[in-house]
Amino acid sequence: MCHLLMLQKLVIPQPCFQTVRTEGGVIMGKGFYISKVAALGGVVVAVAALSTIIALSVVYSQERSKNNGSDGGATAGPSAGPTAGPPTPPPSNEPWDKYRLPAHLVPDHYNVTLWPRLTPDPATGLYIFTGESTVEFECVEDTDLILIHSNKLNYTTLENGHLARLTSAGGAAPSITQSWLQTVTQYLVLRLNGKLLKGQRYHLYTKFTGELADDLGGFYRSEYFEGTVKKVIATTQMQPTDARKSFPCFDEPAMKAYFFITLMHDADKVALSNGAAIGTTAVTVEGVTVQQTVFERTEKMSTYLLAFIVCDYGFVNSTTDGVLIRIFARKPAIAAGQGDYALNITGPILKFFEKYYNSSYPLPKSDQIAIPDFNAGAMENWGLITYRETALLYDPAFSSNSNKERIATIIAHELAHMWFGNLVTLRWWNDLWLNEGFASYVEYLGANDAEPSWNVKDLMVLNDVHRVFAVDALASSHPLPLKRDIQNQRSSLSELFDAITYSKGASVLRMLSDFLTEDVFTRGLQSYLKEFAFGSTVYTDLWKHLQTAVEETGTDIPTTIDNIMNTWVLQMGFPVVTIDTATGGISQKHFLLDPDSATPPPSPYNYEWIVPIRWMKTGVVQNPRWLQEKSETANEMKTTGDEWVLANLNVVGYYRVNYDTANWNKLLNALSVDHSIIPVINRAQLVDDSFNLARAKIIPTVQALDTTKYLDKERDYMPWKSAINNLDFFYLMFDRTEVYGPMQTYLNNKVAPLFQYYKDMTGNWVNIPDGHLDQYNQVNAISMACKTGLPECTALVTGWFSDWMTSNINSINPNLRSTVYCNAIAAGGAAEWNFAWTQFESATIAIEADKLRYALSCTREPWLLNRYLEYTLDPEKIRKQDATSTIVYIAENVVGQSLAWDFIRAHWSYIFNEYGGGSFSFSNLINGVTKRFSTEFELQQLRQFKEDNADVGFGSGTLAVDQAIEKTQANIKWVGENKKNVLNWFETALPS
Ligand code: BES
Ligand code: ZN
Repeated sequence: MCHLLMLQKLVIPQPCFQTVRTEGGVIMGKGFYISKVAALGGVVVAVAALSTIIALSVVYSQERSKNNGSDGGATAGPSAGPTAGPPTPPPSNEPWDKYRLPAHLVPDHYNVTLWPRLTPDPATGLYIFTGESTVEFECVEDTDLILIHSNKLNYTTLENGHLARLTSAGGAAPSITQSWLQTVTQYLVLRLNGKLLKGQRYHLYTKFTGELADDLGGFYRSEYFEGTVKKVIATTQMQPTDARKSFPCFDEPAMKAYFFITLMHDADKVALSNGAAIGTTAVTVEGVTVQQTVFERTEKMSTYLLAFIVCDYGFVNSTTDGVLIRIFARKPAIAAGQGDYALNITGPILKFFEKYYNSSYPLPKSDQIAIPDFNAGAMENWGLITYRETALLYDPAFSSNSNKERIATIIAHELAHMWFGNLVTLRWWNDLWLNEGFASYVEYLGANDAEPSWNVKDLMVLNDVHRVFAVDALASSHPLPLKRDIQNQRSSLSELFDAITYSKGASVLRMLSDFLTEDVFTRGLQSYLKEFAFGSTVYTDLWKHLQTAVEETGTDIPTTIDNIMNTWVLQMGFPVVTIDTATGGISQKHFLLDPDSATPPPSPYNYEWIVPIRWMKTGVVQNPRWLQEKSETANEMKTTGDEWVLANLNVVGYYRVNYDTANWNKLLNALSVDHSIIPVINRAQLVDDSFNLARAKIIPTVQALDTTKYLDKERDYMPWKSAINNLDFFYLMFDRTEVYGPMQTYLNNKVAPLFQYYKDMTGNWVNIPDGHLDQYNQVNAISMACKTGLPECTALVTGWFSDWMTSNINSINPNLRSTVYCNAIAAGGAAEWNFAWTQFESATIAIEADKLRYALSCTREPWLLNRYLEYTLDPEKIRKQDATSTIVYIAENVVGQSLAWDFIRAHWSYIFNEYGGGSFSFSNLINGVTKRFSTEFELQQLRQFKEDNADVGFGSGTLAVDQAIEKTQANIKWVGENKKNVLNWFETALPS
């Protein structure tokens, strides 16, 4: 499963190695320009860079002059003009210098009218929108100051000489004496000549203009081609703090209000928002006739869940229990039926959640829409969910089973938020982990309900538990609640909500639901949703309701939910539980991947956890138990003779397990004699735990390698995937060393039977395996066989690819496309690459384009890789949303690695300045290009890079640079300590 730039589950595809689940949405090539000036910048990046800088400075000076215009000199406040506050204000304690809103004012409802222009303004060449807004708020504490969020909006100075008009809903209102924009903290600030009075309601009116930029945040524009016609969409992404970029609002999640939205648009466009459209009428404004679509009042909701869209889209629809369900997409995509799968599963998933939450869907309609340029994977705007095209549109002719699974799980995830997150909202962003962790857990339940034959719930162990173990085992990890103030840093979305938030959040909730039982868990959940509907909470409110459910049902847990969960939530990391089957001793210790790394910060719980343990003895499930102390004696875990113990059944617990050597040997023996006695998820666990215990020097590396010996008999997906994920590190460390050859021979020997198995099962690759996980494992078989140089595999994939090239008919099975394209391009030259590029440019579905975009990174030709790298910074070739992941794909290729590193070093300041604002994920980029680093020379280069660019900065990648240095040091040490043994092991592991 490989997709990039997704906020969660970030897995980087291994060329020729695994199921590839790519992510993103480049379609139909061309047609993406920042401004007229920037468009002059041609193919050459340097030229593009220069012209973009010019364009930006033009925009900047235009913005400034507009601001000065609206200022009119009448509104000078503490900072300069209305929008042009100083970049960093002198430290001060004024309310407008604080990032959190004061508590004096509470919004009740807003009337917002927005008019996005889908053609550039002839005077400036900019795309803009205009708007008007009135907010009615209540004063809950007397104040003579109004702070309301506003970012990158230019205000019309009104008849009172100020940027806003204040009236009272009842009596008189004080007058505005000063109004200005505080840019750093993103407020419109109004000072008054008297007090707003507690209990009174007021109206604040503003008129404003903003840029409909291609920056993927706030009210922004996305572009695509239909044939040769360029189409422009106005769309939004508000979370976390960009609602204020489309209209002035109290932009904090707990500031819930009702919204009356009106959108203005041309007659041939569709206008969408959270509520259903009540009606569209023609109006004439400034001599122009436009349509005005008025939407139903929303429910009481947070600003970050708002959405406004004007586009030229088609849709398909159905109705489930009175709820109107619609899927919107580009007209040709709808005509090709690409919205049908999403439409078919949405109704059932909604019904599943209604039952799970015991609460009916709170809105009359549910729209879902695929946007060509979209930063995240999807966004749960209430009633109007936005998606990347790849995350919503399905076409059996192009989409793999992996693509389909991603669509089902992401729809389930966003629909889960309609209640958990939208109906009941966490009060502040520090509790975001509960919102995203919860949706990331129940997405599996929703998807499983829609596709019960897939066994998708099991995959959570690979996709979330194992994935986040890798990060949470570092000394630089962090507890679940976010400590950073998200408004106070220049960060792209992908850094805000990391693997800890998503996957650890999901994993500990799964553990909680398991030890409470699903019955008790949902009982508490349901009463939580009932009590706080349309309101906001802190995470302990959920614990309280679960505790009540525990008490009502007499559920047996050793202490309170609060006590148990605090150990998992409030301290970073997780334990390794060690079981000594000779003595029955069980103990726990904070698991650190690199025992020599910096000491982790002290924890309020001393890095001890309250651990639920499900376990079996020699294949027989035993009564579960808890580990509550640092060490305890569990006599029931003592073994005699051939008996063995296996703990953490199905990896429901968020911890790793180690055993005494004798027990390990018995487990290894069980694997080799008849592996089916060990549950499949635990076979994946034994591999993952042992490789990681070895990394942490708790067991010898060769013992971890021993767990791969039985793989020639393994046919199941999860253990194979686990092994491949772990061997990935061996490839990274050794694919440029003498270990590579023997390692390839060994792995080739292990995968050959699997390759043959699928060859037989599919009638010589004609049919598709029935099972979902079998389909995944077929991809593993092919990618591993090709990667390890099985000649039959290379012949197979190059044959398929050249058939496509000669006939121009692509009959490659969609499940296999990523891996086939990648391997064929790796084995081929310029002809194959150029063919794939042409196909990429003309692809009509993003899912196909994404497979090609990944495969193009697999070539072994340095010049092709270098040219491809150049393309990544040309938005006409590679959409901005896909730039980072493409560079990282290239770095994954052993030939591309150093080229990508050279490339980002050479272009750092351009990349930083051009892409730093939003979509670019610097931490993914730094991680991606430095993953293989394991020599002193690379370490030195990395340090030099840090030093050379200190003045430019690394933005959201700052931490990643330090982590890369730390990881490189650890890698150098690991390679030094392990290379000889590993080489020796691979050389002797096969019977000669
Ligand atoms: N709310 C998020 C999207 C988001 C996160 C937007 C952070 C802005 C900032 C959404 O619910 C989400 O989690 N999307 C995931 C997909 C999901 C299946 C985990 C994504 O975008 O990858
Ligand atoms: Zn989410």
